[in-house]
Formats: sequence, C-alpha cells, structure tokens
Amino acid sequence: MAKHGALLFTHAFFILILSMSLFCKAIGHEDRKPYIVYLGSLPHDELYSPLSYHLGLLERVAEGSSAANAWIRSYRRSFNGFAAKLTDRESRKLANMEEVVSVFPSRTYQLQTTRSWDFMGFGETITRNATTESDVIIGVIDTGVWPESDSFKDEGFGPAPTKWKGACNGGKNFTCNKKLIGARFFTSEEESARDEIGHGSHTASTAAGNAVKDVSFYGLVPGTARGGVPSARIAVYKICTLEGCTGEAILAAFDHAIADGVDIITISIGPNHAFPLDVDPIAIGAFHAMEKGILTSNSAGNNGPEEGSVSSVAPWILTVAASSTDHRIIDKVVLGNGSTLVGSSVNSFSLNGTSFPLIHGKDASSKCPEIYAWICLPGCLDRDLVKGKIVVCDKFGGNVEAHKAGALGSILLSSTPDVSFVVPLPATGLSYQDYNVVKSYLNSTKEPGANILKSEAIKDDDAPIAASFSSRGPNQILPEIIKPDISAPGVDILAAYSPVAPVTSSPEDKRSLKYSILSGTSMSCPHAAGVAAYIKTFHPDWSPAAIKSSLMTTAKPMNGTSTSPGEFSYGSGHIDPVKAIDPGLVYDASKEDYIRLLCMVLDEAKVRHISGDNSTCPKGSEKGSPKDHNYASLAANVTPMKPFTVTFHRTVKNVGLTNSTYQAKIMPNPKIDIKVDPEVLSFKTLNEEKTFNLTIVGEGFPDGSHVSAELVWYDGTHSVRSPILVSSVGN
Ligand SMILES: *[C@@H]1O[C@H](CO)[C@@H](O)[C@H](O)[C@H]1NC(C)=O
Ligand SMILES: *[C@@H]1O[C@H](CO)[C@@H](O)[C@H](O)[C@H]1NC(C)=O
Ligand SMILES: *[C@@H]1O[C@H](CO)[C@@H](O)[C@H](O)[C@H]1NC(C)=O
Ligand SMILES: *[C@@H]1O[C@H](CO)[C@@H](O)[C@H](O)[C@H]1NC(C)=O
Ligand SMILES: *[C@@H]1O[C@H](CO)[C@@H](O)[C@H](O)[C@H]1NC(C)=O
Ligand SMILES: *[C@@H]1O[C@H](CO)[C@@H](O)[C@H](O)[C@H]1NC(C)=O
Ligand SMILES: *[C@@H]1O[C@H](CO)[C@@H](O)[C@H](O)[C@H]1NC(C)=O
Ligand SMILES: *[C@@H]1O[C@H](CO)[C@@H](O)[C@H](O)[C@H]1NC(C)=O
Ligand SMILES: *[C@@H]1O[C@H](CO)[C@@H](O)[C@H](O)[C@H]1NC(C)=O
Repeated sequence: MAKHGALLFTHAFFILILSMSLFCKAIGHEDRKPYIVYLGSLPHDELYSPLSYHLGLLERVAEGSSAANAWIRSYRRSFNGFAAKLTDRESRKLANMEEVVSVFPSRTYQLQTTRSWDFMGFGETITRNATTESDVIIGVIDTGVWPESDSFKDEGFGPAPTKWKGACNGGKNFTCNKKLIGARFFTSEEESARDEIGHGSHTASTAAGNAVKDVSFYGLVPGTARGGVPSARIAVYKICTLEGCTGEAILAAFDHAIADGVDIITISIGPNHAFPLDVDPIAIGAFHAMEKGILTSNSAGNNGPEEGSVSSVAPWILTVAASSTDHRIIDKVVLGNGSTLVGSSVNSFSLNGTSFPLIHGKDASSKCPEIYAWICLPGCLDRDLVKGKIVVCDKFGGNVEAHKAGALGSILLSSTPDVSFVVPLPATGLSYQDYNVVKSYLNSTKEPGANILKSEAIKDDDAPIAASFSSRGPNQILPEIIKPDISAPGVDILAAYSPVAPVTSSPEDKRSLKYSILSGTSMSCPHAAGVAAYIKTFHPDWSPAAIKSSLMTTAKPMNGTSTSPGEFSYGSGHIDPVKAIDPGLVYDASKEDYIRLLCMVLDEAKVRHISGDNSTCPKGSEKGSPKDHNYASLAANVTPMKPFTVTFHRTVKNVGLTNSTYQAKIMPNPKIDIKVDPEVLSFKTLNEEKTFNLTIVGEGFPDGSHVSAELVWYDGTHSVRSPILVSSVGN
C-alpha cells in the first residue's frame, strides 16, 4: 500500500469507516446499500419528468421503506438514472425491469510537477493562442481545489466563455473567479468544494494551473509550476473525501459537468480492477460525455506491475499510464563504514552531517511479535528504544511509525524504489539489494551508525520509463482494445496542494504546503488532459476519438520490460504534445461506432437505452469483432500453437495537408507476416477518408506469449504510428 504515497492515509481511514459500518450491521441496522440504477439516455420527451419516473420505479420494488427514503439522487441533466439505498432483493427486481440497463452497488473508488512539461518538449515558449485557450474549460472530478492557490488566480482573465452553463456552487466560503469558473460538490458530509486532501488541487493545477514562478519543495526541484493550458478555465466537481469516492457521486459529477459545458474531463480516480462497461460509473459517465464531444482522461490505476491490473478499459476513454521524467529525487544514506547508498524519498530534513546509531525495528519493540516489529507496524516501536536513533524497517510504510515513536530517522525497504514519496522525518527507501547491504552492515559491527542526507534532484537519462506502480494491460473486459492508451509523467510531480492537507500520512507531521510532490497515474492523467485541451485549442471541432487518435499515433516509442509486452505498460508510447496537434491522419470514431462495439458485448435492448435512439444491433456474422473498432492501436487474440490469419479493418481521415500520399511501413516481427492493403493512400482533400486492411499471418506461438509489431503511415512529414499486438490466449 505504500506505493500510493500521499494517498496512503486515504486507505487507512477507509478501513476505519468500513469496520464502523460492519459494527452498525452487527447491531441490526437494515441491510440497505447504495446502488446505482442506470437507465441509459434521457428520453427526447419534454413531458418526461425523470424525478417522478425514478420514484415510480422505486415504488414498484420498495419493500419496507418508502421510495422517497430510499432515493439518494437522480441523474437527469446528461443521462438517465438514479442512486438509491436498496436491499439485494430490490436491486434484483429493478435489474429485471425492461427499462433498466444495469443496477450495481455504488462502490468506493480510490484516488489513484513542474519540469514534467519541459521534459515532454512542451516549453513555456511553445506556440499558443491564449484567446482560443481561454475558451477551453477543463472539468476536474476530484477532491475539490484550494481556491486561493496562486495556480487558480484570475489575473488577466476575461469573463467566462459564453458557452459556460455551469455555476459556482462551491458551498461555504468557496469563491470562484474568472479562472476557476465553476464548482460543485457531491460529498454528503462536507460543506464545500474546498480541497482538504491536496489531490484535487494537484491534478487541477497540472491540467490547467497558471504559470507560478519560484515554486519548490523546500528548495527541491525549483522552477515554474504550470498546467498544460495555463489560460484555460477550470470547473471542479468534488466527489472524494478521506473515505474515498463513491460511484453515485462520480455519476453525479459527470451528469453536471457535461451539462455545464466543459470541453475536457480529467478524472484521476479508479477502482482496484476493471468492471464491465455497463456497471462502471466512469465508463458510463464518459460515454455520455463522448456523445457531447467531451473527451475524458482517466488514470490507468496504481496496481502495477501485475498484468491485467489496468482498471480503465472503455474505448471512448483516454487511459493514461505513468512514467518517469528526466529528473529523479533521490536520498542518500552514508553508513558508518563509509559506504554510500542511494535511496528514494523526498526528504527535506538534514541530520547536519552527523552519524547516529542504527537499530532494527525487531530490536526496538517490546510490544509486538517480531514479524510486525520487522516492518515497524503502527504501535510497535518503543519510544525509549528508538530515541536518538535511526530505525531500520522492512517496509516503506514503517516511516510513519518511526516518526510517531520519535526516532531521529529511518532506513526502509522500498518495493517501488523508482518512486520517491514525501517522508515526515529523515528517511530513505532502498532497493532490495541496497537494503540487504544495510542489514549485513548491521550484523557486521557492534555500534552501527549512519547519516541520512537531505534529498537532491538528479538527472535521469533513461527516462521515460513506465513506473512500477502503473497498472498494466491486458484489458480484462475488451482484450482487443489495448489499454492503457498512452503514458505521461506521473513520478515525483510538483504541483499545487492544499495548505490544510496532511503532507505525509504521519499525524505528527504538521507541515503545511502550497505545492507538494506526488506520484501516481493520478498525476499523469491531468497531464494528458492538458495536452488534449491544447489540441482542442487548435482543432475545436475534432471529436474525442480524433483527439485521442492524435495523442496515440504521435506518441514517442518507449522501452518495454523484458517480461511483458511494452504495450501493456504504456500503450502507444509517451505523450508528445507538440506533435499531437499535427498528426496528419486520425482514426476517428463516432457515437455510432461505439454503439456498434457495445452491440458486441451487451444485448440490444440495453444498447438501445444507452444510445437513446432506435439503433438496432447487427446480427450474426455482421456483428463484427472489437478488433475492427476503428482504434488507433491494433490488438488481436489468437489460439495457442495454431496457424492463424487475422485481418483488421481501419479507416483513416486526412487532417494534414490537402494533397498528400501516405506509404505504409511495417516494423516487422520475424514471427509473423504483415500485409497492408492498399500500401499507399492518396488524399486529395482535407477530411477525406480512406480504408485499408491489415492482415497478419502466423504459425502460432505458445499460450500466454505475445508478438508486437508496428504500422506507420508516412507522407514524408507525418509518422502516424500504431502498435500491433497479437496475443496467444488459450481457454
Ligand atoms: C487566435 O485564434 C483566434 C480565433 O481562431 C484568431 O482570431 C486569432 O488571430 C488567433 N491569434 C493568434 C495570435 O494566432
Ligand atoms: C475562508 O477560508 C479561508 C481559507 O481557509 C480562510 O482563510 C478564511 O478565514 C475563511 N473565511 C471565512 C469567512 O470563513
Ligand atoms: C539540524 O539543524 C537544524 C537547523 O539548525 C535543526 O533544526 C535540527 O534539529 C538539526 N538536526 C539534528 C538531528 O541535529
Ligand atoms: C544477520 O545475522 C543473523 C543472525 O546471525 C542472521 O540470521 C541473518 O541472516 C544476518 N543477516 C544478514 C543480512 O546478513
Ligand atoms: C560496509 O558494509 C557493507 C555490509 O557489510 C559492505 O557491503 C560494504 O562493502 C562496507 N563498506 C566499506 C567501505 O567497507
Ligand atoms: C531503449 O533502450 C536501449 C538500450 O538501453 C536504448 O539504446 C534505446 O535508446 C532505448 N529506446 C528508447 C526509445 O528509449
Ligand atoms: C423509435 O421508434 C418508434 C416507433 O417507430 C418511434 O415512435 C420513436 O419516436 C422512435 N424513437 C426515436 C428516438 O427515434
Ligand atoms: C494536388 O496535386 C495535383 C496533382 O499533383 C495537382 O494537380 C493539384 O493542383 C494539387 N492540389 C492542391 C490543392 O495543391
Ligand atoms: C478489406 O476487407 C473487406 C472485407 O474482407 C473488403 O470488403 C474490402 O474490400 C477490403 N478493403 C480493401 C481496401 O482491401
């Protein structure tokens, strides 16, 4: 859990709440849980009253509770549905009704800077049009923001764009301005959209914060903090508290953001694993956003590096993995015998050059069994045994207990040494190898000592590398849609914070910060949203799929890990903002294309409710396969050890030069033969479309293995690159 860094305390608190609700259950509370009842699109009928319709449905199933008591809220601005407290029986009755698409529990979802933009080749002097940029509105679904932050000041901003239909309903003591034009909150206990966790201020400022000079973390990584589109407007939808983010609040935020008129939605929130599309509130909300031309950027998840851990799987969502930038924050420890080890942490403290005695957690506890003391579990360390000493712990999370018990410092085993988390005392996280050096040094001498230095930033020439925590493919719901789609910076990112938010998960850490360092796909997601908004300023009429395609086909190739195909880590590659505004060709998709895809996984009646029209699903062989959805990457599953032929159908639209000719280039793989038909595509006009087929022939390869290749359409200027991934999957 330590890999969630600043979000760790979220989990700790969540467990507390969970056990409280279990306690309530034990003393006989009625067993009703919040559910979401999704009804698809709103009917095009002026006389239709969603609220009374929803209450009517509830009345038909309610047992022992009035419909009005069970009802929580209705979704009626951008799509149709409601949240209600239901028993299992009631939920099953609703699910069987013809007019209902899906009924699912309102689960709790988890929340999952500065140099990062330069690292992407997106300097401060890049070509921008501040006028068109100020017409772009980014909807941030998160923990709210700290409205007084310099990142959200409105100096130099004109009035909100005329298309804006939202409101400033930020609650108590929350004032909007011409930069922060909208605020709403959907958390039941809180009084305002003010951010008390820091996460929402961080993501909002990364997407669209002002350029704020001379920002640093206690002198570390100094520079200008800025968002991808500093002139754009921000509308915040607060849905998360320390307890997490509920599905019913997620849908409420989408319902409003779409109707308010935002252009791009960024949501750095996700479940722990993928859910089918019709019971995934982010997929549902993002579908109705897509219908209105709004692209949703969503974090891939922080459950890597396990294969299949990516939780954001819908093809209409831009799913963002996290990778490193060219700076790393390190923290050195000097052992008493003179050896220096390089660890990972964001440590602003100094021990002033002195060496202090080392003690292992197992030798510093009189209260806990040894296995708990090893990892410095909360409550295990004895204050008088650790006083004036540096505690050595077998888990990174032990730093909180070391701080609480009053240790001087801590040396920790880190399971994610590629990421540096903020620590509340002089502490550093070591890789397994380096940690073992410390342990054998402890064994080798009677009076072991060490000095932990203040953190420093170093250059990292290997970047970008996919972060270990970043969730990996394959897509568990639609295996033929590669997820994540792209990667963006998400390691050691400095951005705006909430001055009342805890800086670390140690309750004793009383520091207050306006800017802080966080890591996660939560941080990469708003980077991608900022770039999507940047594209929108140049191409206001592009569809969400066209924007997505241009981000994917211009992404820079990255290096994979040896064990699984790189596409599972970073999709099409590392985001390249400047190239993305001029992709040459796009793989576009309309609502109808997505409906056709939904027809492959849901029954026709449900699809009809979702589409809101009388669309019928193709039957039999006409139905098609998800691999033929016009996606900017290509994936197929084949049977192990059997010869195969797979054909992909694609359509590309010319958005480059009027007269242009593209040649297909294949980066081959010796294990397969790839043919593109036709090999040359000539365009005479802008927005002209051409189709092509790509056929792969192979002899078959072992179960669980993968073969990668690449297709590039090249016109002498634009390289339109798509990864190709064939996976061998047995049953
Ligand atoms: C910015 O875009 C607007 C609208 O397209 C255009 O009128 C204006 O000339 C552009 N400004 C610059 C500096 O390119
Ligand atoms: C509003 O919130 C700010 C920031 O916490 C605080 O400084 C100010 O005193 C508050 N004002 C009122 C009227 O509560
Ligand atoms: C190091 O020096 C700083 C500043 O003088 C002081 O606050 C801190 O307590 C010192 N730390 C130790 C471990 O002596
Ligand atoms: C340290 O010594 C103990 C006891 O002799 C031994 O069990 C342990 O393996 C040693 N650890 C290392 C890292 O050498
Ligand atoms: C310090 O001790 C460690 C662990 O025994 C060892 O690996 C390292 O080489 C020692 N360093 C020096 C400079 O002797
Ligand atoms: C991949 O790694 C190799 C070897 O470390 C390196 O030479 C190459 O430049 C890297 N490629 C990319 C795209 O980073
Ligand atoms: C669907 O078809 C029915 C019957 O033909 C028609 O009354 C209704 O208006 C249609 N709905 C839409 C949204 O087109
Ligand atoms: C496109 O190319 C053709 C043939 O080379 C030429 O006749 C035509 O004028 C060109 N059109 C434009 C708009 O450049
Ligand atoms: C691609 O394949 C489809 C179906 O097999 C065929 O109808 C179509 O003509 C092919 N298109 C091209 C450009 O070869």
